[in-house]
Amino acid sequence: MQKTQVAIIGAGPSGLLLSQLLHLSGIDSVVLERQTSDHGAGRIRAGILEKVAVDLLIEAKVGERLLHERLVHDGIALAFAERNVRIDLKGLTGDEVSVYGQTEVTKDLMDARAAAGGRLVYEAADVCVEGLDSAHPLVRYRRDGKAQELRCDFIAGCDGYHGVCRQSLPAGSTRNFERIYPFGWLGILADVPPVASELIYSNHARGFALCSMRSAKRSRYYVQCGLADKVEDWPDLRFWDELRMRLPREIGDAVTTGPSIEKSIAPLRSFVVEPLRFGRLFLCGDAAHIVPPTGAKGLNLAAADVRVLYRALVEHYRTGNAAGLDRYSDRCLRRIWKAERFSWWFTSIMHKFTDDPFDHRIQLAELDYLCGSRAAMTSLAENYVGLPFEPDT
Ligand code: APR
Ligand code: PHB
Repeated sequence: MQKTQVAIIGAGPSGLLLSQLLHLSGIDSVVLERQTSDHGAGRIRAGILEKVAVDLLIEAKVGERLLHERLVHDGIALAFAERNVRIDLKGLTGDEVSVYGQTEVTKDLMDARAAAGGRLVYEAADVCVEGLDSAHPLVRYRRDGKAQELRCDFIAGCDGYHGVCRQSLPAGSTRNFERIYPFGWLGILADVPPVASELIYSNHARGFALCSMRSAKRSRYYVQCGLADKVEDWPDLRFWDELRMRLPREIGDAVTTGPSIEKSIAPLRSFVVEPLRFGRLFLCGDAAHIVPPTGAKGLNLAAADVRVLYRALVEHYRTGNAAGLDRYSDRCLRRIWKAERFSWWFTSIMHKFTDDPFDHRIQLAELDYLCGSRAAMTSLAENYVGLPFEPDT
């Protein structure tokens, strides 16, 4: 029988960051991950970090490469009706965002865990959690076909939307809130210079488009696509044509095209489970909530959960005070719902939901209003750069 203080299920950004922060505070953890280590490092996800996330990565001592390689962005642009309007994030809020791929964050965390000799079990099959409301829950899993047991004080469910932890909660103990959107995002990565130095979010009668980047030489572009679309339906040529059509002409004409090095389709979903805690199991990151990618909040929200949970665990182990753990769910949910609202709203004004031209005119009017009102732009900007943490009450 193995033992640890905190059993962490899932080695995505949430699980790795939590184990690293706990380690730095002298708290032992074991991370159990279903996939191989190559799988984790190979996935491609959004790339915008709020200051709260950057600060936490620095606190976790994985900030070095990030601070060196990130692109700092002081603004974003909203494109609509042949206009391209800059939202001055820095001028409106005093804050900025960092562009740094989530894949890189995961790699940095994996390296830090390995360097510290952290216990991380890849290819842990059939993970199952038991005794959640007892003092010492048990995690069972299989490794190389052999049954294993891990006894712990707490379990952190960092196993993503499809993970086992949320599904192990007793029926009736939680409530789910969900919205599924009638479209997806088709994203490509290409080694071509980005069309602009800052991100462009574009509302077009043909559908949404986003111009993003990973570096001065690597672009990340997205177009809204149908839910039934397959990557094979979108050869590079079709993608570039569609992207250019959905941007103001001058910008579309300036797009440098090239072969894609990755192409994938993601559905859009909003999801929250309440509460985030059952007994000694705490849900964290995508296991607890999903946002559509329009505001790039996924990783930032996960980092915010980890910050609250790790501090509460440190308080518990240092002083015996469980108040932080008791407040975990309520504290996180306040932030989560605000990010859910923002991501839902930003999605709703930027995408094509129907063929009804009335709906498009209403969106254009909202964007026109937004870009003419300092108050409305500030509201967008302060949500985009990340809301401050609520006082810990
Ligand atoms: N047993 C063990 N591991 C599991 C299980 C299971 N039953 N189910 C899922 N996992 C692992 C997955 O293989 C994955 O590596 O849990 C991990 C969950 O990682 P993410 O889905 O990335 O979730 P999270 O770490 O909360 O990520 C937060 O990063 O990946 C993005 O979109 C995500 O932006 C969000 C942020
Ligand atoms: C990305 O660069 O992948 C990205 C950026 C901003 C978003 C979503 C994705 O809102």
